[in-house]
Amino acid sequence: MISDGYYTSKKSDDICEDVCGQQASPTFLSMSRLRCFLLGLDFKAIVFLFFIVPTFIVGIYFHGQKITYFLRPLWQSPPKPFISITHYYHENVSMETLCKLHGWGIREYPRRVYDAVLFSNEVDMLMIRWKELYPYITQFVLLESNSTFTALPKPLNFAINRDKFKFVEPRLTYGKVGGRFRRGENPFVEEAYQRLALDQLLRIAGIEDDDLLIMSDVDEIPSRHTIDLLRWCDDIPPILHLQLRNYLYSFEFQYDHLSWRASVHRYQSGTTRYAHYRQTEYLLSDSGWHCSFCFRYISDFIFKMKAYSHNDRVRFSHFLSPKRIQDLICKGADLYDMLPEEYTFRDIIGKMGPIPHSYSAVHLPSYLLENADDYKYLLPGNCIREHG
Ligand SMILES: *[C@@H]1O[C@H](CO)[C@@H](O)[C@H](O)[C@H]1NC(C)=O
Ligand SMILES: *[C@@H]1O[C@H](CO)[C@@H](O)[C@H](O)[C@H]1NC(C)=O
Repeated sequence: MISDGYYTSKKSDDICEDVCGQQASPTFLSMSRLRCFLLGLDFKAIVFLFFIVPTFIVGIYFHGQKITYFLRPLWQSPPKPFISITHYYHENVSMETLCKLHGWGIREYPRRVYDAVLFSNEVDMLMIRWKELYPYITQFVLLESNSTFTALPKPLNFAINRDKFKFVEPRLTYGKVGGRFRRGENPFVEEAYQRLALDQLLRIAGIEDDDLLIMSDVDEIPSRHTIDLLRWCDDIPPILHLQLRNYLYSFEFQYDHLSWRASVHRYQSGTTRYAHYRQTEYLLSDSGWHCSFCFRYISDFIFKMKAYSHNDRVRFSHFLSPKRIQDLICKGADLYDMLPEEYTFRDIIGKMGPIPHSYSAVHLPSYLLENADDYKYLLPGNCIREHG
């Protein structure tokens, strides 16, 4: 029995004895086994069990989102690329020449232009947008709700600030829509519902076939000359996406020039629907600015982080700490501690870390420069925000 047991256990311990390099007697066996267990191969197992596994679990807990984003190129292929349209512009070149350069004719009179937005709390961006577009807009259409997309009650911020926008009053169609306040519903449902209400408001505003309609968020601002070009030229595509320069927090942090969600439509009653996703292949280059999280007050950042459709990204309550937010704004780093949303490893790695500072304030909306004192926080070198 003893020798059998010895024999079998010796056999099973072959590997260990190779490692420890000794011939054990039966009595010595249990001791040497323990030592082998601790010193030999199994030391690695201990490290693995008590160090690597917990680190891994903690790592997944804090950085799980980063890991899935980093691996995105493996699970998601990039969307079909757009067909880019070269955008020609210089202030001293005539409209006729500009239209011809794009392969379009020129009209005898310009199209009417409607600018329609869903408003939340971007008061300053709205001012800069409307001042930029003012010369060429027939009707400004603005809809606001007393509910955020995430079903939180919110004040009617436009109604509260309406006095500041007296200059658009004669051309303004303003609408309110009551929130549905469905807790736990996907925020994109409320968003779709509000966009539907915007379609009705546009009809109330008197939009007609072949009028130009700008569909974009408040912070996606087409440049004035882009809209002038599109209203004067004939034969432009029925729908065009606008490529905008992407900024974060202010015009100090440009992270790329690839924003594409804004679009311009030649309105067709019955078919044109207000949307904020991809609707065509065509993308007009360098057509304006998209300034995300470009808020004056820290409190606006906190509101936006809770209110918008990606509120699931606020994974930890310390993400909403004012001091943390202020530090990140000055660094040009991500509020949600996430990796760039890109489709290739090259782009993800290239965009990791804070956005480099830029000291260019060339080609920005004119109203911003004319009122630089008021909007200093949007210009390079002024990252400190008020508390509000
Ligand atoms: C550009 O146009 C403006 C007015 O449109 C004119 O005053 C100016 O002289 C022009 N500059 C050149 C270089 O042609
Ligand atoms: C939101 O607005 C609707 C319609 O005006 C109103 O019936 C509702 O009571 C409002 N809800 C809140 C929370 O303000």
